[in-house]
Amino acid sequence: MNRDETYWVDEPVPETPTPSEYPAPWKKTRVVGERLPRIDAYERVSGTAVYPSDIVLPDMLYGAVLRCPHARATVKHLDVAKAKAIPGVAAVLTGTSPEAQVGWPLYRGMTDIPLFAEICRFEGEPVAAVAAETPQQAADALRAIEVEYEVLPPVSDERDAVAPGAPKVHEAGNAVGEPDRYERGDVESGFAEADVVLSKTFRTAYEIHAPMERHGCVARWDGDRLVVWESTQGVFSVQSWLSRILGLSLANVRVINTYMGGGFGSKLQPSKHTIIACLLAKLAARPVKLFISREDAMLCVGNRPGTDMTLKAGVKRDGTLTAFEFSSLSSPGAYSEGGAGLVDWVVRDLYTCPNVRCETRLVSINAGPVRPMRAPGHPQGAWALEQMMDELAEAIEMDPVELRLKNVPAVSQARGGQPYTSTGLRECMVEGAKAFDWETASKGAKGNGNIVRGVGMGACVWIAGGGGPPSTVIVKLFSDGSVNLNMGASDLGTGTRTVMAMVVAEELGIDAAGIQVENADTATTQFATPSGGSKTVPTESPAVREAAYNVKKQLLELAAEEHELDAADLMLDDGAVVSRSDPSVRFPVAELSSLRRRRVLIGVGYRGPNPEGKAVNPFAAQFCELEVNTRTGEITVLRFLGAHDSGRVLDRLTFDNQVFGGIAMGIGFGMTEERVLDRGQTGKMVNPNFHDYKIPTALDVPADMVSLPIDPHDTECNTTGAKGVGEPVTIPTAAAIANAVADATGVRLTEAPITPARLLAALAEQRKEA
Ligand code: MOS
Repeated sequence: MNRDETYWVDEPVPETPTPSEYPAPWKKTRVVGERLPRIDAYERVSGTAVYPSDIVLPDMLYGAVLRCPHARATVKHLDVAKAKAIPGVAAVLTGTSPEAQVGWPLYRGMTDIPLFAEICRFEGEPVAAVAAETPQQAADALRAIEVEYEVLPPVSDERDAVAPGAPKVHEAGNAVGEPDRYERGDVESGFAEADVVLSKTFRTAYEIHAPMERHGCVARWDGDRLVVWESTQGVFSVQSWLSRILGLSLANVRVINTYMGGGFGSKLQPSKHTIIACLLAKLAARPVKLFISREDAMLCVGNRPGTDMTLKAGVKRDGTLTAFEFSSLSSPGAYSEGGAGLVDWVVRDLYTCPNVRCETRLVSINAGPVRPMRAPGHPQGAWALEQMMDELAEAIEMDPVELRLKNVPAVSQARGGQPYTSTGLRECMVEGAKAFDWETASKGAKGNGNIVRGVGMGACVWIAGGGGPPSTVIVKLFSDGSVNLNMGASDLGTGTRTVMAMVVAEELGIDAAGIQVENADTATTQFATPSGGSKTVPTESPAVREAAYNVKKQLLELAAEEHELDAADLMLDDGAVVSRSDPSVRFPVAELSSLRRRRVLIGVGYRGPNPEGKAVNPFAAQFCELEVNTRTGEITVLRFLGAHDSGRVLDRLTFDNQVFGGIAMGIGFGMTEERVLDRGQTGKMVNPNFHDYKIPTALDVPADMVSLPIDPHDTECNTTGAKGVGEPVTIPTAAAIANAVADATGVRLTEAPITPARLLAALAEQRKEA
């Protein structure tokens, strides 16, 4: 398997025994598939939900990190004497502190780097840290640290980094490993066969994750045991990193995640500040809270790499694709923390094409490390591929939807022809086009004057579809019929708690709202991989279902014994054990004396592997309509429709909200979001704040958004039939916008985001040519 396909796992996954008995696929469901509001909605909206950033402990200190203000510099001299003298300062750490002699492990076995840098390779690299009684005293202490830097010329753009004579980010040069190459068929003869061959270059900007809750933690030592509350996608991932870096046993590292305010891939792992907080707490022998500022988060905890792409494509008059040749260049920043790959996956796998050659290259620049960001690589690749599909369609005078439909693959070509457990790609396009009324909308008038209208679409496949092992879940049924779900997967704000409670409710014939779901906690909940890869639901829900199913089996056996009935004839309904053959035979669960004597029944569920030799993937097609003001370059997105095959929809409300949120994020990628570095000069980020780095707001997304689930009734992928939503939503959105802009104006914008300035420049160019 491609390592990138499981980027959320930091260790190889061992073979573990598969469950001996899987529950059969659901037929008719009572709870699953309904629109259930969050079971924790009240806590979330009332402010009573406790997030890691809300944690306050007695005697707690506040940590802060001094970061290099230059994109490239060497620390010549560092003096912390004045900082130590600031009132309230309890601990100071620098690169020479004995406590700080721990390595920071980089992605893919690259060697460790020091916790505090002497040679700084990006703006924001930690240089020293303090802990003080108040955040203000900590900030004063940082200001009092004297650092003398030798500032060096940085390289801040991947295109500059490959130029001869470019500043070297690392001694060995700027290339990061060998290019990743992929080839099938014979690309040259594929192009020779084509009636039309087009080649275009595309570029996307660097995008910042920007979750609502900032990155950070509270760390406390209980003797030899470390307890960390971290805003994280995976408590077990943080536990394994801390244990490795600090040389502690896993049992001596407890990581707790309460509620948490988003991650988008930037919180799959801890950050240097997590380690720093732990070390400061040890040094001061007091708990330390360390949350980084929004500005630092924009510099230091990940981004989606900007990507330069060239795509050459061949097509026959009848719409048969004959060849793709793709190359890309992007940068993981100064160090790789994963998530810079997979750019070419949609080119390899989305459409039927016998001849494909891809080369993806990475090069270092003096900027903060990349981390996986919502569908790593895919929106960039789709920006190129889905615009190219429209260009090809125009060249052969075919409707863009029809061209795509002609090339819907039956198997995963990038996996040597593996069949999918299910694919709703065709239905996404057909049903989506119907519901959008593509037929009428694509032929409608473009408008006149300076306001012109256009429609566009894009499609996608997402590389992952959940999986396992390992994942273990425990469901407890108490003697009064109430239920506790013990699961180690974090709810990032995406509704995991609610969806899993629905699975338990479905199986046990009870209401989801009353089920208690434990917070992810390495000491009290069972192992789960980090919530990411759009795999939380498809990975965890079968384990949850099996745990509930195992409780149900025990309960029905107890009831059968107590009332001298046949267990096989019993089922659970509305809090009671009921006979299938005679519904008048009915015993409330809470009144079973056999259960009361036991006090609690425990069901354990394990996630088994996905079916061997099959690919499990979500698919989608999105459609948009927009207006362009050709005088101002402003775009108003009028409506969006997302037709998504993510398998079975477990909570329709949460599902739709994932689709709306993902489209909003795609609108940001396509229209507003761009990390701007001062290229060729200081290399510093010039927009590290929400004023200048523009996240789409309610006013930027259309009120008219439609979520159209396409359920292929996949009974093979796993026992709940869910394949995952989340990441796939953000893949085709920006390309659909670009296609609609081209439809409206006749101008194709190949550089994302499509800002008013870029659009106006392109329109001016068009007028010049006319
Ligand atoms: Mo995602 S990029 O696995 O949070």
